[in-house]
Amino acid sequence: MSKILVLNGPNLNMLGIREPGVYGTLSLDAIEAMLTASAVRLGVEVEFFQSNHEGALIDRIHSSYGEADGILMNPGAFTHYSYALRDALSSVGLPVVEVHLSNIHKREAFRHVSVIAPVAIGQIAGFGAYSYDLGLQALVQHLQMQMSG
Ligand code: DQA
Repeated sequence: MSKILVLNGPNLNMLGIREPGVYGTLSLDAIEAMLTASAVRLGVEVEFFQSNHEGALIDRIHSSYGEADGILMNPGAFTHYSYALRDALSSVGLPVVEVHLSNIHKREAFRHVSVIAPVAIGQIAGFGAYSYDLGLQALVQHLQMQMSG
């Protein structure tokens, strides 16, 4: 069974409380519960990790090498400037889907840039909590195509 690591970056532990008009009212726990249910339906295993610390996220990405088959990630604000996270993702070479609750492209200019996108298969943004679900579906589809091809 394919194993997907779901990573969340800084401030995403505050979902539900943090700017609900932008990020919605669901907590990260609720989003993770939704993904667990989707994973059962899709026949994959999911594991979750959230950190506010760049180094902790990098360590978790490194330890996914040889352990996970793909990464679904909302890097939070690190999206826009963390070359270290980007390098960690390319170091392990796993397929990555980048997700965002908000549509980063219609917000402040600094959010329009993702330094993660060039090492991801693709990016899903703007669908609230559903972005994660769409991202999981896209990653599973990619893994299935990889296995059959
Ligand atoms: C975010 C968008 C980022 O710009 C922001 O810093 C976040 C959340 C999103 O999910 O919409 O923390 O990644």
